[in-house]
Amino acid sequence: MDFELGREVIVQGFAAQPVVSGQRTRLYLCIRQAILDRRLESGTAMPPTRVLAAELGLGRNTVVRAYDQLLVEGYLESRVGSGTFVSEAVSSTPSPTRPRRLLGHRADGMSRRGNRIVSNAASSRLQTGAFMPGIPDVTDFPFATWRRLITKHMRHEQRHLAQYGYGGYGPLKAVLANYLKVTRMMSCSPSQVLILNGSHQALDLCARLLTDVGDTVWMEDPGYWGARNVLAATDLRIHPVPVDDSGLMPRESDWEFPPRMIFVSPSSQYPTGAVLSLERRLRLLEYAEKNNVWIVEDDYDNEIRYHSHPVASLFGLSTAQRVIYVGTFSKVMYPGLRLAYLVVPQDLVEAFTVGNAELYREGRMLEQAALAEFIDGGHFTTHLRRMRSIYESRRDRLRELLVSRLDGLVTPFGGAAGLHLPVRFELPLDDAKVAAEALRDGVVFCPLSMYSISEETRIRGMNLGFAAVPVEKIDAPALQLVRLVEAEARRRRTQGG
Ligand SMILES: Cc1ncc(COP(=O)(O)O)c(C=O)c1O
Repeated sequence: MDFELGREVIVQGFAAQPVVSGQRTRLYLCIRQAILDRRLESGTAMPPTRVLAAELGLGRNTVVRAYDQLLVEGYLESRVGSGTFVSEAVSSTPSPTRPRRLLGHRADGMSRRGNRIVSNAASSRLQTGAFMPGIPDVTDFPFATWRRLITKHMRHEQRHLAQYGYGGYGPLKAVLANYLKVTRMMSCSPSQVLILNGSHQALDLCARLLTDVGDTVWMEDPGYWGARNVLAATDLRIHPVPVDDSGLMPRESDWEFPPRMIFVSPSSQYPTGAVLSLERRLRLLEYAEKNNVWIVEDDYDNEIRYHSHPVASLFGLSTAQRVIYVGTFSKVMYPGLRLAYLVVPQDLVEAFTVGNAELYREGRMLEQAALAEFIDGGHFTTHLRRMRSIYESRRDRLRELLVSRLDGLVTPFGGAAGLHLPVRFELPLDDAKVAAEALRDGVVFCPLSMYSISEETRIRGMNLGFAAVPVEKIDAPALQLVRLVEAEARRRRTQGG
């Protein structure tokens, strides 16, 4: 019979096709794949539904519904009086090739920009465990309170909060404007606050709205690679500016060529922890005003400061409207919340509100509503106070252990704020090698060298995230690091380095 070939192909394909969501879908997928692979060529007669149903042990209706779907999608066509056939349209299109697999960090067919983004990537799939930097302890988060707030808002305002959230959730913006006034000495109206899905998105928005392709941005060196990669992805030219104990330290030659934008973490330089000195703050602000430079202030972990209040912001010191402030809830709530905020100068409010809605669309209104109440109701402050004390004891234990066991080989520095402790190697050890060895033993850290852009500024050592490791679980991985660093130092000495 003329449908014999089709029948054979389908029966074979059906047997090989896994059942994922019912027999109709199984049959549909197996026929569709056979057509796309040209095992069923255009014009092939399809077996009558009754015949196929009997052959495969399916209900006739199941086969009819699979055929109907393939007819609607154009894989099959029916000819009145003669039956159902594989569509002619399939033979006129080239046979689809299977997508190639990613080769390492590159893939064929990507743009130069895309390949650059992917090949520069430093994000780790491993986002937990001792001693991944920048990760808060989410096990201590007051989820019961959070759940209550989320449920309450779901119950009362579901429809409103389920919509696109043009301009963000008003009450959260008002709460934040007030919070920043009290804690960062910032004077801003709620309309100047924009809610975004994380600092990376906030930076991307700044770059897209304030710079053009090929403009220069100053980046701290060493500095946060995440910010660097986001800005480089918008085709900005990265100009590294060194950092010392007082933060960003432009050289005379740097000042000569004003960039379009300066990225800075003045309250706790990442990863060194340096606080930008007042003298440098004032000079930077004056320079930005004179040269029409935008300053993007990354204030990612200022709340977690162990022996003082948060450092007042650069935004609050500026009178010239050249600073854009970026804050995030990733460290102080939990990273998966993906809520951050920008505070923009009054003149940029309209453009940023429109640009944000246009590029990303806004949402997460339910979480924003719960967060506004979490802050307003005092839960945020209580949580912070509690976590600061927990984190401090973890930081102290890690520091004590490293100092006592690796005296002369490492020097911890920074650590006055935040979730990470940078530790410098006092010998020129290969920190990336130590990190790779540690990873094999299940211990994660970021080598300090990965934060540097230029060779002259490269610090070697370990950036250790202590916050998510309970104090009683610090010793074992820390002692593992001690052994690895000692071994590397021995190797270095025997090689005469
Ligand atoms: C310096 C710095 N800024 C900002 C962030 C936060 O980014 P996000 O708000 O996108 O989670 C991080 C996270 O690791 C960081 O290290």
